[in-house]
Amino acid sequence: MKDIHCVYLNGNYMPPEQARISAFDRGFVFGDGVYEVIPVYGDRPFRIPHHLQRLNNNLRAIGADQPLSDSEWKTVLARLISENNHRGGDLSVYLQVSRGVAPRDHAFPEQTPPTVFAYAQHLPAAGETLFQQGVSAITLNDDRWQHCDIKSISLLANVLLRQRAKEKGVTESILLRNGHVTEGAASNIFVVIDGEMCTPPKSEFILPGITRDLIVELAQQHDVPCREVQVTEKELRSADEVWITSSTKEVLPITRLDGQLVANGKPGEVIQHMYKLYQDYKQAFREGRVEQGA
Ligand code: PDD
Repeated sequence: MKDIHCVYLNGNYMPPEQARISAFDRGFVFGDGVYEVIPVYGDRPFRIPHHLQRLNNNLRAIGADQPLSDSEWKTVLARLISENNHRGGDLSVYLQVSRGVAPRDHAFPEQTPPTVFAYAQHLPAAGETLFQQGVSAITLNDDRWQHCDIKSISLLANVLLRQRAKEKGVTESILLRNGHVTEGAASNIFVVIDGEMCTPPKSEFILPGITRDLIVELAQQHDVPCREVQVTEKELRSADEVWITSSTKEVLPITRLDGQLVANGKPGEVIQHMYKLYQDYKQAFREGRVEQGA
């Protein structure tokens, strides 16, 4: 927290130690809220229209109003970026909206303003070395609920799944539901089968990842074969390549799964290609050569 100079809470900017919320906040008591994590490159929030669209979809999905318009969010982000970019390098913005402060009752309170909190912090570079080494993962049963498409702050199931990966000394847990791959505990998943990239289609069982969508978009633009299709456990285990994607991890190869090497244990050709396309896109964005989009 010492790196964070200024946070946003309910319309005000303040040092992090002055940010206080009620112990009766429904975010604290019920985990009743939604969040976003947005990378910032060259002081520009990456894929901002996509993140705000997902946030607004999520607010609608939980029956909450939008506390800020898109242009108000952009103003908040711009201020947080300018107040916290003292170290240089990239940032990530975390923002969350909870259903506000009310006496404890599961049903929604009437007329209660939401609690809106956001901050920007240093985003460590994803790193070419880590990419070239790849990381290890384990498979686990996806025992989460049936609304994994909502970016809910109630992350206990994901927390437990990720902790099991940590205890095994690996980076991520790859989740399986009824014999099919869903996603990672905090990432989306791609596999390569016969030279073709495959990623599970959007459904209530996966988060519609912004990084996932950009990878699919880049594949389409550059004629890399890519299918949004169910992936079985068997296909996962015999895939030529397995990768995870997220806003903070970008595109990362899984080179060891449940203790077994994935193919020859090195990042494969398809991910090398997609990684380069992603890094080029990011660099073009950083330099202002790519627009934010609609
Ligand atoms: N998590 N699936 C889950 C369950 C996630 O938590 C995340 C990201 C993703 C990837 O989504 P995106 O590409 O939009 O980052 C998929 C964030 C980074 C987090 O909770 O910190």
